[in-house]
Amino acid sequence: MAAVALAYEQFDSLPDEDCAARIQAAKAKLGKRVVILGHHYQRDEVFRHADFSGDSLKLSRLAASSNADYIVFCGVHFMAEVADILSRPRQVSILPDLSAGCSMADMANLANVERAWKELATLFDPDARVTPITYINSAADLKAFCGRHGGLVCTSTNARHVLERAYQHRDKVLFFPDQHLGRNTAYQMGMSPEDMAVWDFTRPMGGLTRHQIEKAKIILWKGFCSVHQMFRPEHIDAFRTRHPEGKVISHPECSFEVCRKSDYVGSTEFIIKTITESAPGSRWLVGTELNLVNRLRERFREDGKIVQFMSPTVCMCSTMFRIDPPHLLWTLENLASGRVVNRIRVPEDEAAQARVALQRMLDISP
Ligand code: 13P
Ligand code: SF4
Repeated sequence: MAAVALAYEQFDSLPDEDCAARIQAAKAKLGKRVVILGHHYQRDEVFRHADFSGDSLKLSRLAASSNADYIVFCGVHFMAEVADILSRPRQVSILPDLSAGCSMADMANLANVERAWKELATLFDPDARVTPITYINSAADLKAFCGRHGGLVCTSTNARHVLERAYQHRDKVLFFPDQHLGRNTAYQMGMSPEDMAVWDFTRPMGGLTRHQIEKAKIILWKGFCSVHQMFRPEHIDAFRTRHPEGKVISHPECSFEVCRKSDYVGSTEFIIKTITESAPGSRWLVGTELNLVNRLRERFREDGKIVQFMSPTVCMCSTMFRIDPPHLLWTLENLASGRVVNRIRVPEDEAAQARVALQRMLDISP
């Protein structure tokens, strides 16, 4: 590998059209050595260059089955970590902008989760009673924690399967970092609010009493997605008043109230599939990230399907948005010249433990 990478500053202010042409050229030069994976929330100018797109589950499977030397992940940090963990050692996982994190993933860290585990251990043996489940939107060391403690990873697609598997072995679940996905899934499985407790990681014992912890079947970490919390039940009420025939579809990171009022709840891939399969002329209110909803709106316009964003205010995943054409171009032109930039590498011992938790999930996923 050549030692000095091309400086990013040369790329920063390039117009999108110039970037697009040069991205195509760099991709052509790299051929099968590179694969670009794009999450559905990526902006169009980036998304159009993806070889494959998907939700978190689909993208992790694609990363695991790819043969490319370089996996360029147009998504956020935890996704590129998963690609590194599931790909072969010779493969390189790359995130075009290292500042593309996930604010929800940052709401749980290893120190806080280990403290919670120790606090639970003052009441009972958590390794005998509690399955830790981390949403894939989390750092690799939390996936490793789950691997060490008999736990699993889940995504928005398979959360129910993962929870069902957990209750076959232990009677409680500690679910982090997204309280909403945990609550919505537990409710779907028949649990009531009394079966759930919210663990406030800023307070000793999660701010819960011994009785509340003993009683809870699922302990929900007090994390959330700043994008999905913008969708409100009153947005659905207003839509239904105006369009009683319309359908509402939401991501399970939305609040309990929003999901309860929705006709359908599911991952980004599920949302796309459901609207794709709906009748021409149908009308949809969609509670998920704006770039995806805008793309759906354009895609289905010709079929007479009307796709509407749930919130009256603009709410995008600002961290996904950091992956822009200049960063993608910078990454690819460096690769085409034999230089790796922005490699995401999970330390091998941590990756091995995280792989255990990810593999448990993949083994039971539909
Ligand atoms: P999906 O797995 O449904 O694509 O969700 C990922 C995500 O980060 C949603 O906010
Ligand atoms: Fe994270 Fe929310 Fe962005 Fe998804 S939409 S990547 S959960 S901040």
